[in-house]
Amino acid sequence: MSKLFNRLLPLISNDLGIDLGTANTLVYLRGKGIVVTEPSVVAVNQKTGQVVAVGQAAKDMLGRTPGHLIAVRPLVDGVVSDFEATEEMLAYLINRAQGASRQLLGPRTVIGVPAGITNVEMRAVKDAAQNAGAREVYIVEEPIAAALGVRLPIREAVGSMIVDIGGGTVDIAVLSLGGIVRAKNLRVAGDKLNRDIIAYVRSEFKILIGEKTAEDVKMAIGSVIEGESRLEAVVRGRDLITGLPREIILTDQDVREAISQSIDTLIESVREVLETTPPEILSDVMRTGITLAGGGALLKGLDQLLAQWLKVPVTVADDPLTAVARGTGVILENLDLHQDLFLENDDDYA
Ligand SMILES: Nc1ncnc2c1ncn2[C@@H]1O[C@H](COP(=O)(O)OP(=O)(O)OP(=O)(O)O)[C@@H](O)[C@H]1O
Ligand SMILES: [Mg+2]
Repeated sequence: MSKLFNRLLPLISNDLGIDLGTANTLVYLRGKGIVVTEPSVVAVNQKTGQVVAVGQAAKDMLGRTPGHLIAVRPLVDGVVSDFEATEEMLAYLINRAQGASRQLLGPRTVIGVPAGITNVEMRAVKDAAQNAGAREVYIVEEPIAAALGVRLPIREAVGSMIVDIGGGTVDIAVLSLGGIVRAKNLRVAGDKLNRDIIAYVRSEFKILIGEKTAEDVKMAIGSVIEGESRLEAVVRGRDLITGLPREIILTDQDVREAISQSIDTLIESVREVLETTPPEILSDVMRTGITLAGGGALLKGLDQLLAQWLKVPVTVADDPLTAVARGTGVILENLDLHQDLFLENDDDYA
């Protein structure tokens, strides 16, 4: 019965992989690949309680909404902070991912969460996905998914190391034989760099800029090592003294200064993980190197800077923003093989 059921299942139900990120949510549809990529933002009409936009459309509203509309980011530091908004966002994205190929039964889903989150935090992700229509929810730790996504040989008796730099969290992990040997989860990631830039502009130029502006600057001219030519960005904000709009020019040097402390924290955390890694595995990592994933991996010069300080080769994964989603896809394409990667179900204790 159950064998037959398993064979019939793909005909009446989809399998989805979801990277539920602080900054971006991606959905992988088994057999198709990544079908949805949207910023993790929801806009809500406070008068009616209705969701008016999800994803990019809602992100464009951040900081610009009239009184009765609010744009919220349902996840903070990698974990659910607004349960209802998370559920609404997932429902919308799950629906969109299935599109015309929607099936009778709700989808089975594999969802990535930061390594080391609490049971309560994991429960929130599961419940939100189930309320959003998922029939079964399997939870995998993001560094494992990211490592599978970039095709690191995590099941072999060889140590590999991945650093996933997202919007809310940095997941640092050393993996071997299908498990996490050492890991550290750091809540200093892309969002913190944006806040660093806001604080720097405020103290150096006495101007208040918005989060989106700060992120644009970071992506356009941000770097951690001085390049060959000077980069500039024109930035508009509110002069804190006159209260009026003012325009200034920021350089790559400004951004480096603004984010330097956070970057130091990142380097130190990776060093700490290396320092506690058992010697045999450490020698593997020194040979095979560290792979950077997540959007933060795109920060110019980060690979070089890490390699320089840690004396370990560092490479940026191809298409680092999709690593976790591709990893959930690898799992979905062979669910039986990868069962052991799922976090224990805590249903019995709920
Ligand atoms: N070119 C770039 N340079 C620097 N940072 C970038 C660049 N492109 C994207 N980012 C940053 O990457 C972050 C988003 O990455 P990603 O989508 O991997 O995060 P996430 O998975 O949503 O977050 P988390 O894993 O923490 O929950 C944002 O903070 C964004 O500003
Ligand atoms: Mg992520």
